[in-house]
Amino acid sequence: MMSFRMATSRLLGMRGTAAGVASRCYYHARQTARGHSKVRPLLLGLMTVGGTYGVYRVYNNNRSTLTGLVRPRTVSAATQPESQDSVYSQGKCHALYLWIHLKPKADAKLCAKVVADIDSHVDAVSPLDLRDEDDEIWAGVGFGADFYGKIGGQSVMDYKYPRRKGALGELPSSGGDLFIHAKCNTYSKLFELCQRIIRELPPDSVDKFEDVYSFVYRNGRDLSGFIDGTENAADEEERREIAVEKETGASYVITQVWVHKLDVINKEEDGTMEKWIGRTRDDSIELNKKPVTSHVARMTGGDNFQQRKRYQIVRQSMPYGNLHDKAGLFFIAYAASPEKFEYMLDRMVGADVDKECDDIMRLTKCVKGTYWYFPGKEQLKKLAS
Ligand code: HEM
Repeated sequence: MMSFRMATSRLLGMRGTAAGVASRCYYHARQTARGHSKVRPLLLGLMTVGGTYGVYRVYNNNRSTLTGLVRPRTVSAATQPESQDSVYSQGKCHALYLWIHLKPKADAKLCAKVVADIDSHVDAVSPLDLRDEDDEIWAGVGFGADFYGKIGGQSVMDYKYPRRKGALGELPSSGGDLFIHAKCNTYSKLFELCQRIIRELPPDSVDKFEDVYSFVYRNGRDLSGFIDGTENAADEEERREIAVEKETGASYVITQVWVHKLDVINKEEDGTMEKWIGRTRDDSIELNKKPVTSHVARMTGGDNFQQRKRYQIVRQSMPYGNLHDKAGLFFIAYAASPEKFEYMLDRMVGADVDKECDDIMRLTKCVKGTYWYFPGKEQLKKLAS
């Protein structure tokens, strides 16, 4: 069973998280305009993003009469350990990415206990009896490799994140001890959640932290104007298959902060940037002929039209930022094994056999990155107790 927290707005007839997020935010705006009325399951109607997603429907089933929320959906593979709520759920209008570095002298077990109790933090900022689709939060907790070792945690796979450097830029390795990914339609709830977690950690244990808040931009586009998520798995079962380690319910997660070169994006020709990505900018149509250096060719494993994908990951990245400082993409993706990320990152920086780099690095720069381990729900519960 999925947890009670995870409402299951399901998307049919489309691929792509970004479009899913866009449709939910559209729904959210409509509900807010109606004064938070709790409307029955809905069919959003016909909505197209850029012409390629076609028709998609969002509907809820089994609403609880008490909370107006959706009841948990039974996962068909009942024997499989449950993963955390953030892992393969769809996106919401906003996300919090909280990246924490602890002081060496911090009590690691106590810090782990505080964040592992994520459900109680979520319940505190979004009480169950008042919760509706506007303020429910789907959250997950991850641990850096060194930190997880320190508290005696074990993962099936190693997940060290090496620094990489290629001709078009570097992918720095920034480390980190604790990470929270939370999704909500209401920005302020995520702010509250972050405040609470930082406050609850033992005094003098945090060395530094960064809390990034994301938003949906133009119905699910990256700040470069390209639709992000076209080839992302949308079906829940498929997302689970891709993101969750079967034996443990755990997931391996990559996070990277990318700062977009808005000056390049604003002045470059569409045609040039389309070759960098491998898709058209307006409607995300795959280019018949694309350079081997295009982002799509790098990530799939080849430049053929509709190239068979070597690996799949569940991307949940969203735009973040402000114009006075930095703005770009907070890249986050979940996978059942870190080797999928390794393959993609190697192909970004020219470390695969063909030595080619990813043209995406012409329009954006990676300033921070690492891997995290999101234990399954049972494992997490043990850390909280
Ligand atoms: C700022 C950084 C990035 C931007 C702006 C970006 C943007 C995009 C866009 C516009 C697409 C095409 C539409 C789609 O299928 O979603 C795409 C596809 C994809 N991206 Fe990225 N991406 C970034 C970084 C990354 C990284 C770091 C990875 C992997 C570690 C990655 C993995 C993928 C994959 C697997 C696909 C799907 C390829 C396919 O199956 O056609 N992306 N990305």
